[in-house]
Amino acid sequence: MRSILVLNGPNLNLLGTRQPDIYGETTLAMIEETCARHGAALGLAVTFRQSNHEGVLIDAIHDARDTHDGIVLNAGAYTHSSIALRDAISSVDVPVVELHLSNIHAREDFRHLSHIAPVALGQICGFGAHGYALALEALKAHLEGVDR
Ligand code: DQA
Repeated sequence: MRSILVLNGPNLNLLGTRQPDIYGETTLAMIEETCARHGAALGLAVTFRQSNHEGVLIDAIHDARDTHDGIVLNAGAYTHSSIALRDAISSVDVPVVELHLSNIHAREDFRHLSHIAPVALGQICGFGAHGYALALEALKAHLEGVDR
C-alpha cells in the first residue's frame, strides 16, 4: 500500500475556531479522520502531522524520503515566506501537492506568491477541507502514472 504524508503547518491546529469565515468550521481532527477514510478507500495509508515550527516541517519532509510515496503540504503562511521549505522539497525525490483551504489568489497580495508552487506537482486551493481529499486523489493518480 502506498503511503502519503499529510503535513500541516503553522496555525492549522486552530482550524474550526480560526477565522471560520475564511477557513470554515471543520477542525484539523475532522480533516485527519476524512484523510484516513478517503485514503483507505483509495488504497493509500495516510500519516497526518501538524507543526507550528518551520524546522520540524523541514525534518518531516526529509524523513518522508524513506517512509512516504508522496506529501500533501499545507505550509500555511510559510508558503509565502520559507525558501528553506522550498529547498527541502527540492532536496527530496518525493512528489508534493501544495494545498490551501482558502483561495490564496483571491486574497491579500502577499498570499499570491508561493515559494512552494514552483517545486510542487501542483496546487489545490479554495475548496476548503475537501481540498485534502482532492489532493489525495491527485497524488494517487500521479503515483499510478495516470497524469502522464
Ligand atoms: C492557508 C493560506 C495561507 O495564506 C495562510 O497563511 C494559512 C492557511 C490555507 O490553507 O488557506 O495559514 O495555507
